[in-house]
Amino acid sequence: MSVQTAKRRLSPANIEALKGERPIVSLTAYTTPIARLLDPHVDFLLVGDSLGMVLYGLDTTVGVTLDMMIAHGQAVMRGSERSCVVIDLPFGSYQESKEQAFRSAARILKETGCSAVKLEGGAEMAETVDFLVSRGIPVLGHVGLMPQLVNTTGGYRSVGRNEKEVAKIRRDAKAIDDAGAFAIVVEGTVEPVAREITASLRSPTIGIGASPACDGQILVSDDMLGIFNDFKPRFVKHFAELAPAISKAVEDYANEVKARTFPGIEHTFQLKGVR
Ligand code: KIV
Repeated sequence: MSVQTAKRRLSPANIEALKGERPIVSLTAYTTPIARLLDPHVDFLLVGDSLGMVLYGLDTTVGVTLDMMIAHGQAVMRGSERSCVVIDLPFGSYQESKEQAFRSAARILKETGCSAVKLEGGAEMAETVDFLVSRGIPVLGHVGLMPQLVNTTGGYRSVGRNEKEVAKIRRDAKAIDDAGAFAIVVEGTVEPVAREITASLRSPTIGIGASPACDGQILVSDDMLGIFNDFKPRFVKHFAELAPAISKAVEDYANEVKARTFPGIEHTFQLKGVR
C-alpha cells in the first residue's frame, strides 16, 4: 500500500504569521500553466482583477466581472498545490453592502476552492472586512493607490505625497488592520509612509510600488516577466524579457512555414512500414 502525504497549501493564517519572520513573496496568476510555474516559489498567488487589462485588453479593471474572476480562479487552483490562492473581488461585486460582499466572496470560495478574497478600500470598507472575516472569509486588504477608483481619483498616481494623503492612508491601513484582514496590499506610496504603516500594523503589508520597507512584495507576473509592455511603472523590474523572445519565436515559425521547412520529418506521422 502506498502512503501518500497530502500536500497542504499555505493558509491565510500562515501568511499572517510570516510577519517579522521573513519577507512574503507573491505574484499574480491568471492561468493554469503560469500558476504551475509560479507555485513552487511564492507564498501566495493573487488572481488579480488586473487580468482585465493584462489578459483582456481593457483600459481599466472596472469592467471585470465576478464570472471572469471565478473562471480564472478555478484555473489557478488547478495549476497550484502549495501556495495560498487569493482572488480579487471585482468592482461592483462588494461595494454596495456587506451582504453583497459576503454573497460574492462566498461564491468565489465555493466555486473555486480558494481560501481568501482581496478587496480594495480603506476606512469605508472596514465594516465589510469585519463582516466577512467574522463569518469565515479571510480578507486581504488593499489600500493606497486603488485601481478600481480610477474614475473618481483620476488616474494611477502614487499617493502619500502630502499630509492629507498621508493621514488618509494611515487611517485606511489601520481601519482594515483592526477589521481583521490577514494581510494588506499597500500600492503606490512613498517609502517613509510604507515603513511607518508596516511598523504600526498587526498584519503584514504587501508592497507594490511601496518600497522595500513592506513585509512582503507582489508584482503582476506579466509585468515582471516582460510580457505586458503597454507601460512600465517605475516600481516594475523585468526579471525576464519574454515579449521579444515570443516575437522572435513566432517570426521563426512564420518563416519556416513559408519556406516549408516546418513541419519536418520528425514532426510528421507516417504509415507504419513506410519510410
Ligand atoms: O489586481 C491586481 O493584480 C492587484 C495587484 C497589483 C496587487 O491588485
